[in-house]
Amino acid sequence: MRNLSLIDQVFVEIDEAVRTLAANKTVGSFRPDKEYSDDHMSLQTKTLSGKLIRVNHCGEVCAQALYRGQKLISKDKKIKDFMEEAASEETEHLAWCGSRLNELNTKTSILNPVFYAASFTSGILAGIAGDKFSLGFVAETEKQVVKHLDKHLSLLPEEDIKSRVILEEMKKQEEGHKESALANGGRELPAAIRRIMSTLSKVMTKTTYWI
Ligand SMILES: [Fe+2]
Ligand SMILES: [Fe+2]
Repeated sequence: MRNLSLIDQVFVEIDEAVRTLAANKTVGSFRPDKEYSDDHMSLQTKTLSGKLIRVNHCGEVCAQALYRGQKLISKDKKIKDFMEEAASEETEHLAWCGSRLNELNTKTSILNPVFYAASFTSGILAGIAGDKFSLGFVAETEKQVVKHLDKHLSLLPEEDIKSRVILEEMKKQEEGHKESALANGGRELPAAIRRIMSTLSKVMTKTTYWI
């Protein structure tokens, strides 16, 4: 592929951001082995599930932005390929959460653009700190995501079997992203940075639950 100029890259990133935020990335909806009906779910249960899935949808918006930012900065083809591959699974997660939100009649978070911008900037900064740091950043992010998904799996209403199947599948793949980042040379991040990441993700999860 030809080398893109800086201006080209800016336009590519704007296009990616717009498509992510407009939920316009076409990779289809999640197709579990069997069909799940929501007919047995009460309105109250659907509302609770919708709030939880909205948080996860925003998490996937952030994942897109993080990987885009990191890929943009890295000069190493192997690292760029790794980011690209992980990002394509994140694109599926984004679509699964997006279509599940529709099924639950819940809107995406109005804060998505804010968290996209913040995550893209974090990805750029992690990239500037070097590939080993950047991969360590992926590993730490995914570790925190898995912990968060475990919490959401425990909060999800028993009746919402389809959302559970989706979150469990996502969790499996996020664990895979963590392992690959470590296998590719990711190093452990300083405790202070891990704490900042955890605080920022709490801000995201607590706000997008409501709006
Ligand atoms: Fe994901
Ligand atoms: Fe991931």
